Amino acid sequence: MSFIHLPKSWQLAESQITPEFAYWNRRKFMKAIVGMGMGASAVSVVGCQRANKMAPELQETLGQPLNNVTRHPGFRDAGRAITEQQYASTYNNFYEFGGTKNIWADAQNLPTDPWTLEVGGLVKNPKKYDLDDLTNRFPLEERVYRFRCVEAWAMVVPWLGFPMQALMADVEPTSDAKYVSFTSFYDPEITPGPAWGFAQNLPWPYVEALTIAEMANELAFFAVGIYGRTLPKQHGAPIRMVTPWKYGFKSGKSIVKIEFLQERPATYWNTLSPNEYGFEANVNPEVPHPRWSQMTEKIVGTNTNPFDWEKQPTVIYNGYGEYVAGLYA
Ligand code: MTE
Repeated sequence: MSFIHLPKSWQLAESQITPEFAYWNRRKFMKAIVGMGMGASAVSVVGCQRANKMAPELQETLGQPLNNVTRHPGFRDAGRAITEQQYASTYNNFYEFGGTKNIWADAQNLPTDPWTLEVGGLVKNPKKYDLDDLTNRFPLEERVYRFRCVEAWAMVVPWLGFPMQALMADVEPTSDAKYVSFTSFYDPEITPGPAWGFAQNLPWPYVEALTIAEMANELAFFAVGIYGRTLPKQHGAPIRMVTPWKYGFKSGKSIVKIEFLQERPATYWNTLSPNEYGFEANVNPEVPHPRWSQMTEKIVGTNTNPFDWEKQPTVIYNGYGEYVAGLYA
């Protein structure tokens, strides 16, 4: 018997796969950043270290090893090289800690132990999960997923966690539940938000939401770890959402509350600017964004100079159409 291996829509030719990179050319890099008018904060100084060796300050932010977690056979390979962690863990969006990509050090102020994740609303078994439950209650697995931000950059990340379906089975939503809201940690003393003028009016806390069918989809995942360890705070420790067919803003970080609802709840970016951040927010090259063309994406870390990050065409549903297209038929 022979098997025909059909390439997935996002599988790339060998020549397109991210090359190994050697050293940051610090001079060229700093010049590029200054030229961009972004200042040194746009990309962490950690990125200026030798690329294949993480700076000690960054290493200190990494979580505890999560041993004996096996990679899900269906999500072993995302068709591109996994992004080097020194990029993924220093190039973050977490507005609670500021409006730049360089929040990894400030995010260390997030208190994650103890932690309570409260799950309620239209469910048969409302639950409160503590920190230990998050890594021990549901069997953990690793999934290598593509990750695409609406700002038109992309990464490939090895998440550790459990399918959202597992939590749904535990709390048993009632048939009235049509939407699910996910609320992030918020305490103005700890999470001051960006230092910009309009920052006073941001609709905190950060809330994201899915339809119940989206949450039940095989791809929808709760990450409690990344790169073999528990989540660093900058990635949304101790638990965050991962929905790889949607833009990254749909994956709320540091979740404290999940509520099953009948009506669609208000969500953070959609409230701020509905014409830029739709509720559905599926990756789609044909749906233009007023500020970023969605036709292509830049692959983070593919060059020492961020201006030379490799460009690739955007793929509908970020390449996961076989799992999710049916949800939107
Ligand atoms: N969750 C919270 N609570 N606050 C945020 O600012 N930013 C979102 C998402 N989740 C955000 C958030 C955006 S815009 C992106 S692209 C991803 O987190 C970035 O995740 P990463 O920093 O782990 O790559």
